[in-house]
Amino acid sequence: MSLKELTKDSHSNAERSWFAGRMFSGQITNPEYAIYLKQQYESYKALENRFDSVKPDSQVTFPDERIKRSDSIYKDLIEMDSNGANLPVLKSTQTYCSYIKDCPDDLLYAHVYVRYLGDLKGGQMIAKRVPGEGLYYKFESPDELETLIRSKLREDDLFVEECRKCFTFATDSFNDLKNYIDSNINI
Ligand code: HEM
Repeated sequence: MSLKELTKDSHSNAERSWFAGRMFSGQITNPEYAIYLKQQYESYKALENRFDSVKPDSQVTFPDERIKRSDSIYKDLIEMDSNGANLPVLKSTQTYCSYIKDCPDDLLYAHVYVRYLGDLKGGQMIAKRVPGEGLYYKFESPDELETLIRSKLREDDLFVEECRKCFTFATDSFNDLKNYIDSNINI
């Protein structure tokens, strides 16, 4: 079975959440999308920076600089809200960022799979429905980058479990975003 099949339930759970539907509906407002981008920015920055602190003998490296998203997410965020840097970092995002700091080096690739392959694949459909320029979803040579990411993946239980964990973090973030939006009526 492929990783896609092995994590199908986790993907469906994330997709079914209210916030995912909100993005997909084409109705998401700029402030709602900005608070999401802020969470994505913090999460991707934590993941991308984590590769700078792997053990020297671990042989774990970020697959390719062109995959990194934090700079483009930041630009999208500022396009949505010039004050976006000051938006809150929600609890679920803080939890993910501290989790990533302690994540074993070789399991970081599970997070690379869930995040960037999601952006390369499903992200392309989302790009058409969200406001702004969508630099987040624009990849140079997407097929080449997909192959590079896949070359780092494994299918053992530990790795699959880590992928599922990453999906759960994303779903938790969607739930947190719903609560934030519900309790900020002026958003
Ligand atoms: C609005 C919600 C979402 C929609 C509509 C969506 C849709 C899709 C679609 C259409 C694909 C391509 C399937 C294919 O190539 O056959 C895909 C792949 C993928 N998505 Fe999503 N997705 C959503 C949310 C997410 C989230 C929240 C994550 C993770 C944080 C994610 C991670 C992935 C991954 C890792 C793949 C690649 C699977 C593989 O080919 O191995 N998706 N998604």
